Amino acid sequence: MCATDMIVDVEDLAKRYPPDIMAVDGISFSIESGMVFSLLGPNGAGKTTTVEILEGLRTPTRGRITVLGVDILKDYASIRGKVGTLPQNFEPFDNLKPFEAVDYWAKLFGVRKTRRDVNEMLEAVGLSERKSLLAKKLSGGEKRKLGIALSMINDPELLFLDEPTTGLDPKARRDLWKLIEDIRGGGATVFLTTHYLDEAEKLSDDVAIMHRGSIIAEGSPSELITRYGKTTVVVLEGAGMDGLTEITRRGIEATEVNGDVLVPVKNPAEMRIIFAKLSSIELPVKDMYTRRQSLEDVFLNLVGTKMDEGVLQE
Ligand SMILES: Nc1ncnc2c1ncn2[C@@H]1O[C@H](COP(=O)(O)OP(=O)(O)O)[C@@H](O)[C@H]1O
Ligand SMILES: [Mg+2]
Repeated sequence: MCATDMIVDVEDLAKRYPPDIMAVDGISFSIESGMVFSLLGPNGAGKTTTVEILEGLRTPTRGRITVLGVDILKDYASIRGKVGTLPQNFEPFDNLKPFEAVDYWAKLFGVRKTRRDVNEMLEAVGLSERKSLLAKKLSGGEKRKLGIALSMINDPELLFLDEPTTGLDPKARRDLWKLIEDIRGGGATVFLTTHYLDEAEKLSDDVAIMHRGSIIAEGSPSELITRYGKTTVVVLEGAGMDGLTEITRRGIEATEVNGDVLVPVKNPAEMRIIFAKLSSIELPVKDMYTRRQSLEDVFLNLVGTKMDEGVLQE
């Protein structure tokens, strides 16, 4: 596919903060129109810096960047109206109600919105019933929804969402996932940053894993799993450390995680051998099943550590 079909095209982008922090260290990627693209990585990876450059807020140290067909170093003004932004840790004004905030935002950006339009926007983000409550009374998830409504005031073709679900409870995160899927369904391209592996896997057409300013892997979630995962894992639920000892004694590679024993399997031939060996062992297992690997396994294999709330577990 040629670069002009791409809504974002980035080549060798770098950003150095004085004196010598290479926050972004020569990354390249492109985003096809209508997709959800995720920049996935731990805190400090360089995600926000990248997003802020693409939003026209920061100047890169070097790089060629086209957004919506325009070289953004020469001319951001002509596309600014087609781009929407939810900054990281966005907090709406405490003393404005969602209805007032959206109405005010529309006026601020010179976008004509009737009362009905504003109500429809609040409905779309799931805030209809909370539209007359002061923003400071909203839950964390509702505040993000209001932020997304504001970022969509100009009906953007490209929407940047910088960690929209960080710190939210699982229910609120799922609500926002649904909203992001709806936005994609409406035709907008979504540029998401996240440190949640399950979120990137669930929502993205394409994922770029960013670590220490570099992109270390890129592809659709299933491509990444095929390329960097071990394909399948046999889970022996509740087998515990005793189970692990029995299994490894028979020459099978395995690990114990939270009381379960996991046996990675590369291909169907190996699967048959492993099942034959396992069936000869008396094990107190609660359940036994196979599970395809996830982006979580990919991340662990690539980076060598797990990530918890964006923090690498050294
Ligand atoms: N304005 C800034 N000035 C100096 N260093 C910064 C600034 N913003 C971010 N950094 C540093 O750049 C690196 C990348 O940060 P950031 O882009 O915020 O990553 P992420 O969004 O992935 O957490 C970090 O080491 C951070 O401390
Ligand atoms: Mg960030």
